[in-house]
Amino acid sequence: MSQFSQDLLAWYNINKRHFPWRENINIYHTWICEIMSQQTVISVVLPRFKEFIAELPDIQSLANCSDEKLRKLWAGLGYYARARNLRNGAKYIIDELNSVFPNNKNDWLKVPGCGPYTASIISSICFHEPVACVDGNVIRVVSRLLNLQSGVWEKSGQDKISCYVNGVISNENPGDFNQAMMDLGSIVCKKQNPNCTLCPVQNYCTAFKNNSVEMCPPVKPR
Ligand code: ADE
Repeated sequence: MSQFSQDLLAWYNINKRHFPWRENINIYHTWICEIMSQQTVISVVLPRFKEFIAELPDIQSLANCSDEKLRKLWAGLGYYARARNLRNGAKYIIDELNSVFPNNKNDWLKVPGCGPYTASIISSICFHEPVACVDGNVIRVVSRLLNLQSGVWEKSGQDKISCYVNGVISNENPGDFNQAMMDLGSIVCKKQNPNCTLCPVQNYCTAFKNNSVEMCPPVKPR
């Protein structure tokens, strides 16, 4: 394992956030929580996740859920199309895959509503596939590690970021690695006032060395 991974995972084991979907790994729960967390903050997701799982405990119940009930369960999360896609995904898994969840990133990409981020996080957490997961937190963390002050919002910059993460990701525990990068971004390597003195990977951070953390990443164009 890279020294970077070891240092990051040692930090994560002590500092990780405790979420219900992290207690016991369940593919259905991981899928639901990752779709819910896209564009919605975790504090809003938490109570909605618990209710959703209590009402729709498996793909069968999700596939059969009425519009009215789905709308009620999704209230407050926004982007209702995500919920309809989720139900389409459940139907796809039941009808096309004999109710067996895909077990790798490539096959998750074929599930309705599932893009590269979702396919990677599910496959790394549930199937130990060492694939980089690049969300807003990870873009910020890596842009600082590499002192990227421009280009990170373009495809070439994002490819550079995925490439870096794919180079340091833990093969033994890629799910924890990806989640550790996200937790690092939200707890330590924050957008404003990052806590560099508490950072487990400060030694690897080019922007910290150059005193340019505030310049990374550049402002996102609208
Ligand atoms: N945000 C969305 N999914 C997450 C996860 N699994 N861990 C940390 N932050 C997240």
